[in-house]
Amino acid sequence: MLAVAVLAAGKGTRMKSSLPKVLQPLAGTTLVERVLASTRSLQPSRVLLIVGHQAERLEAELKQHPSTPEFVLQQPQNGTGHAVQQLLAPLGDFEGDLLVLNGDVPLLRAETLEQLLAQHRSSGAAVTLLSAHLQDPSGYGRVFVDGAGQVQAIVEHRDCSEEQRQNNLINAGIYCFHWPRLRQVLPLLSSDNDQGELYLTDSIALLKNAGHLVVEDLSEITGINDRRQLAECEAMLQERLRQHWMKEGVTFVDPASCSLSEDCSFGRDVQVEPQTHFRGHCQIGDNCRIGPGSLIENSVLGDDVHVLFSMLNGATLAKGCRIGPYAHLRPEAELAEGVRIGNFVEVKKSQIGAGSKVNHLSYIGDAQLGPDVNVGAGTITANYDGVNKHRTVIGAGSKTGANSVLVAPVVLGAGVTVGAGSTITRDVPDGALALGRARQVNKDNWQTINP
Ligand code: UD1
Ligand code: MG
Repeated sequence: MLAVAVLAAGKGTRMKSSLPKVLQPLAGTTLVERVLASTRSLQPSRVLLIVGHQAERLEAELKQHPSTPEFVLQQPQNGTGHAVQQLLAPLGDFEGDLLVLNGDVPLLRAETLEQLLAQHRSSGAAVTLLSAHLQDPSGYGRVFVDGAGQVQAIVEHRDCSEEQRQNNLINAGIYCFHWPRLRQVLPLLSSDNDQGELYLTDSIALLKNAGHLVVEDLSEITGINDRRQLAECEAMLQERLRQHWMKEGVTFVDPASCSLSEDCSFGRDVQVEPQTHFRGHCQIGDNCRIGPGSLIENSVLGDDVHVLFSMLNGATLAKGCRIGPYAHLRPEAELAEGVRIGNFVEVKKSQIGAGSKVNHLSYIGDAQLGPDVNVGAGTITANYDGVNKHRTVIGAGSKTGANSVLVAPVVLGAGVTVGAGSTITRDVPDGALALGRARQVNKDNWQTINP
């Protein structure tokens, strides 16, 4: 039997933020969500989240997620030991193991936790913790081990003597306790330390029978206390993601200048050009060329799509579309095969038929375009009357002249031609030429031209 407790009550003073520390995002996902996600494969029977500082905000945020933990309030926040003492009532005489995770250590792999649990269970220790050798261990608690490999004690950096600080084996803040044993020593913790807090790490010396597992990949145990560490973790996570996708056949021309979210997938032979970013849920087909200078958010791209200096959000593009430079595809832009969206064109909540072209300086919103439509430069769908949005429908093979305004609601049939500079306010039947502009008048001899 396994219970998981995540410590997330601290204020995160060093972050200097109005946001609770564990709600800081890393590649778009908060620290605490990441920690919770890393425990899912262990299938714990209970998951408890210790909250305190801005507890309501944290609860509100996490209730939107599928597997909401049990919230345990720690008030005031008197240290990590005090935090775990709050579990005495809710866990009671639970007989199993308790995995304790710091809410601010977000890059831990599920496999590492599985290994920790396996070692803990086979050794019969009262507690097994994750440790690591760091070149720069400053800030972390130091782990003191005897000749037999048993952990004797953990001493916090600020409580260490100069000599103790030379020990570079650190406590990662991840522990697997046998709960019935921990329950007995929790009431014995004292606040006799530099911060005057109850330290969970003091339970190690009290438990006597403590083991540790040394983690090799240091990115896994990096704790986030300030913005510098947040940025370092982001960099490590991005590196992990890019390495993964390079192995799967994605080319990054300038990897360090690009970022991804974990919810992205790429086909084969995708070329990601410099300064290109993918956020949220993105699905990119084979042979796409994205960037330079593009931002793709929550979008699905079929095979052979090219995007150049453009921004896509909530868009769906079929095979062979060509986007940009400088295009903006907004939510519910749905492009069929081979659509071309060019310079300074914005598309929102519109379906654009196969082979259609919107090449220059247009706004297409709340519209439905059939196949092979050619939208002339500067054509605008005037979809908003100040109160409601209305639809524009354009049939197959139609053409709009430069600078047309299509005042919605309006339906243009198939094979319609709209004269340049027209303002179209009435429906146009199939095959018709629509002209909606003042006839040109020339006034002769308006000026005297001297030869
Ligand atoms: C802690 C460990 C340290 C370890 C490091 C690893 C202790 C005393 N020290 O130090 O040995 O090397 O993590 O990252 O445990 N929290 C609460 N309630 C509180 C205080 C903290 O829930 O009253 C939570 C915080 O929100 C945070 C976690 O516990 O998620 C760790 O607290 P933090 O203050 O960051 O401890 P560190 O100084 O990093
Ligand atoms: Mg910390």
